[in-house]
Formats: sequence, C-alpha cells, structure tokens
Amino acid sequence: MSTTPVKVAVTGAAGQIGYSLLFRIASGALFGPDTPVELRLLEITPALKALEGVVMELDDCAFPTLAGVQIGDDATKVFDGVNHALLVGARPRGPGMERGDLLEANGGIFAPQGKALNEVAADDIRVTVTGNPANTNALIAMSNAPDIPTERFSALTRLDHNRAISQLAAKLGVPVTEIRRMTIWGNHSATQYPDLFHAEVGGRNAAEAVGDQDWLANTFIPTVAKRGAAIIEARGASSAASAASATIDHARTWTQGTPEGDWVSMAVRSDGSYGVQEGIISSFPVTVADGQWSIVQGLEIDDFSRAKIDASVAELVEERDAVQGLGLI
Ligand code: NAD
Ligand code: LMR
Repeated sequence: MSTTPVKVAVTGAAGQIGYSLLFRIASGALFGPDTPVELRLLEITPALKALEGVVMELDDCAFPTLAGVQIGDDATKVFDGVNHALLVGARPRGPGMERGDLLEANGGIFAPQGKALNEVAADDIRVTVTGNPANTNALIAMSNAPDIPTERFSALTRLDHNRAISQLAAKLGVPVTEIRRMTIWGNHSATQYPDLFHAEVGGRNAAEAVGDQDWLANTFIPTVAKRGAAIIEARGASSAASAASATIDHARTWTQGTPEGDWVSMAVRSDGSYGVQEGIISSFPVTVADGQWSIVQGLEIDDFSRAKIDASVAELVEERDAVQGLGLI
C-alpha cells in the first residue's frame, strides 16, 4: 500500500448520501485497495453529534484503506490540503419542488465553500458538486475560487447517465455492459437531455436499435429526466445510495480515465462547444485521461437534439442570472 493518503473532503457527511458515500470511499471503492484515504467531513454544527456516530461506525468497520477521519464545522480547517472535495451538503427538495427552488437556500452554502477551497485545498484539488441545484452550485463554488483552475470544478450528472443506461438496457433486454457512449446534456434537472442518437448498444447506434421514436421521446427521456422526482414520490426522500454510487463513479473516472472508445457525462465549464453558452456548468460527453477531462468534439446534432440541448442550456443561463442577481457569483 502506498503511504501518502489521498485526502477526500465530503460535505453534508451526516446526511443520507453521506451515510452511503463515506463507507464506499473508506472501503477503497474510489481509489482501490492499495491507496489509503483520509476523510475530512464537514457538517453544520447541529449535525456534528450525529456525524460523530457515523465516525464510530466507520471505526467499527476497520477498513484497511481508511487512514484517518477528521470532522468539523469550519470549512477552512476541514478543507486544508484536500485533493478531492465532494460537495454534497445542501438541502434536498421535497415532493412538488423543482431543484431550481433550492437556488437561494443552497447557493449561500457554495460561495463560502468555494472561498475556503481556494484558500486551503491542495494544488491538485478536484471538486465534484452533488448538492442541488448541482450545476449552478458548482458555478458558484468555481466563481468564488479564482486561484483554482476552472477545469477542476464539476457537477454530477453521472446519476442521470447511469439511469439512462439502465433504462435503455431494460428496454432492449441487454446487460448494461453492452451500452457505451451515453450522454446527458445540460442541467441536472427535468430539462436534461439524455441522448440516444450518439449512444451505442453492442456497437450499434442506440436510437436505431430502439427503432421507436415515440418511446425515445415520450417514455425514455421523461423517465430519466424525472427519475429523481419518482424516487422522492416512492421513497418519501430523495435518492441517496444511487447518488452516492454515481458520485463515486464520477470521481473515480476523473482519476482513472475513461475506457478506450467510451465516454461519460460530466457537467463542466462550457468552452462554447456545441453552442452551449461559455462559462456555465453544463453536462457534456467527456473523455478523461491523466486526470483531465475533454469534451468529445465533432458529434452531429440534429434538430431534435438541438432543441433539447438549447432548452436545458436556457434554464442554466436563467439559473446563472438568478445567482448573479443574488450576488453569489
Ligand atoms: P440530507 O438532508 O440527508 O443531508 C444533507 C446534509 O447536508 C445534512 O446533514 C445537513 O446538515 C448538511 N449541510 C447543510 N448545510 C451544510 C453546510 N453549509 N455545510 C456542510 N453540510 C451542510 O440530504 P441528502 O439526501 O444527503 O442530499 C444532499 C444533496 O444532494 C441535496 O441537495 C440533494 O438534492 C442532492 N442530490 C443530488 C443528486 C445528483 O444527482 N446531483 C442526487 C441525489 C441528491
Ligand atoms: C436525483 O436526481 O435523484 C436528485 O437530484 C434528487 C432530486 O431532487 O431529484
């Protein structure tokens, strides 16, 4: 086992996602069995006691890869020297709310956290925002961290990506491993666009393999885009274990890279690719090599896809304007 632990910060560590995420990270799911990890857990003061209980449980697992745990309510202490920051802590939506309803409540969390990361994180810091509204929260954190390269900020659309893979695999009766090149475009919201025109099933174009435009437009897309709400409706609480699993997938891909010939969905700062307004955090198909992501270039976008991407980007621009108006960026 290597000797220097990777320092991973998790915010909202006493919450539902945290309860699944911490144990996965500590057991080596993120960096493998040979890399020790040190957990840095941030919570608000009233949740620290519950977090102490979670740490007792982490101790009780005797994970060989867990090199240490620190907890606290002061971001500048907890983020000191961290290599990865998984920003999960935020208020989840309840039944009937859209994720955008959380902008003001949660926006205020990400400006100070961005500032704290800017001040004390390690030079190689990589930031993943899971807390909703994830894209715009990532924009807020990024805008408040001027010394951290903008490409080190990302938001989670991997859960949507995984949901899309699973729905498509079920429709075609194939294992999920047959599916490659899935893309989620835009916002982690009901406007997101899960794209089957560039996805592949067993090497064949997914839209052609489905051969049913009505299912694609009127079942597949809304099922994926509204899956978060369906889970809230069914469970009475927002997705947690699947969100934790997707957060691990996202951070692991960022570290280990994408397999040859495949890509993943990540929400990252737009450079204007595919006509997505520069500067917003939007989901794209990306490949990752040596810890750096690149937006896949050269995909043909037909009128159907164009309209869907534009609608989601318009929502992100509105969210950006709203947080600008609130003085958060
Ligand atoms: P939760 O309410 O169970 O936990 C959130 C935790 O964050 C709480 O323990 C709370 O005390 C803590 N917190 C609040 N403000 C904080 C701050 N300033 N600093 C540190 N911690 C703080 O919620 P959850 O179910 O774990 O969900 C967390 C977030 O993740 C929500 O915003 C939810 O909507 C979002 N989410 C995103 C995705 C995605 O795919 N991007 C999926 C599922 C959930
Ligand atoms: C999800 O997609 O499950 C989360 O973003 C939670 C939510 O509010 O939908």
